[in-house]
Amino acid sequence: MKKILITGGAGFIGSHVVRLFVAKYSEYQIYNLDALTYAGNLENLADIEKAANYTFIKGDITDESFITNLFEKHQFDGVIHLAAESHVDRSIEDPMAFVKTNVIGTVNLLNAARKLWAKNPEGKRFYHISTDEVYGSLGAEGLFTETTPYDPNSPYSASKASSDHFVRAYGETYDLPYVLTNCSNNYGPNHFPEKLIPLFINNIITNKPLPVYGDGNYTRDWLFVVDHAIAIDLVFHEGINHETYNIGGFNEWKNIDLVQLLCSIMDNKLGRVAGKSAELITYVKDRPGHDLRYAIDANKINAELGWKPSVTFEQGLEITVNWYLNNPDWLHNVTSGEYADYYKKQYVK
Ligand code: NAD
Ligand code: DAU
Repeated sequence: MKKILITGGAGFIGSHVVRLFVAKYSEYQIYNLDALTYAGNLENLADIEKAANYTFIKGDITDESFITNLFEKHQFDGVIHLAAESHVDRSIEDPMAFVKTNVIGTVNLLNAARKLWAKNPEGKRFYHISTDEVYGSLGAEGLFTETTPYDPNSPYSASKASSDHFVRAYGETYDLPYVLTNCSNNYGPNHFPEKLIPLFINNIITNKPLPVYGDGNYTRDWLFVVDHAIAIDLVFHEGINHETYNIGGFNEWKNIDLVQLLCSIMDNKLGRVAGKSAELITYVKDRPGHDLRYAIDANKINAELGWKPSVTFEQGLEITVNWYLNNPDWLHNVTSGEYADYYKKQYVK
């Protein structure tokens, strides 16, 4: 039986990856290592928590001796590393938290994996999950490819870029078997309501202002989270060692157009007159260092591994909005406590 460590499995994307692996691979033992920060939530995995091939471990990837002991104890065959501080706005307030988890935490895992696999790297794999934000910002034209030079603009993207460089360096220096993917903006169920789509769904439900940064003419490339999890499964099993793959939705939206679309979907769902939710749109001070546009060229993973998104944006948004409307307890639980302080600091000046 293979032992696979998934870090950050209680978070948004991680929980979808854990669910997919636990359901699909009964021959694997899946270990979910998560510190349960504000973004980690075991409710995300309530449906699989009793599965025989699933183990949850609470722990912090920045704790070097804990990580060393964990690898010695369990002798993992593979690592899928998603644990991170993931929100750009929080990185602007507190960059060091991002350096600690995203850089030092990643290097701790790399050290433990290289030591464990040094004698027999055959069949082992360290999979680092990263972001398209490492490439910086695009103008009106062009797409990020796997060879686009790194040019990060926020403390978050700088910390992710740094971790990517460490992963590559461990591949070159120690011949660590790794794969790396850089993905565009995900959306879907279990997304923490600090990010644009779930924040705006929650604010529409609760009749709160929809804070659009700057003029709203910023562009993101949106991918349904389950399609990202499917891509991660494919790259983990079939990706070539030491290769990078870009993952994206072929689905660019200006923020303001996306917000208008979301408002009209929510008007329908909530039985409001058309245009009611859009009255909540409020233009607010821009995010410092705000990247104008991200767009991924996902042709390499498509051509080499046969991956492409399985749902349209319309279908994905329908599933997402329905999930939030059907899970008011989840929303209530994650928006009480620390969230209220964060919200006040970020939006109520
Ligand atoms: P998230 O913030 O929802 O979840 C992060 C998880 O990591 C949480 O469960 C948290 O408890 C855990 N964690 C944080 N610090 C930890 C630590 N020190 N030790 C152990 N666990 C810790 O993030 P997400 O949106 O699911 O993103 C997951 C990964 O995917 C990140 O590496 C992120 O950079 C990357 N990514 C995200 C997106 C996106 O759109 N959300 C897109 C591309 C790449
Ligand atoms: O591109 C991948 C990245 O996508 C991931 O690596 C990050 O972890 C993830 O958080 C996301 O980063 P963004 O900064 O693009 O996502 P966010 O949801 O924070 O913002 C999306 C866009 O919406 C961005 O242009 C900023 C804008 N925005 C966001 C918030 C939270 C607003 O206008 N108002 C808001 O309140």
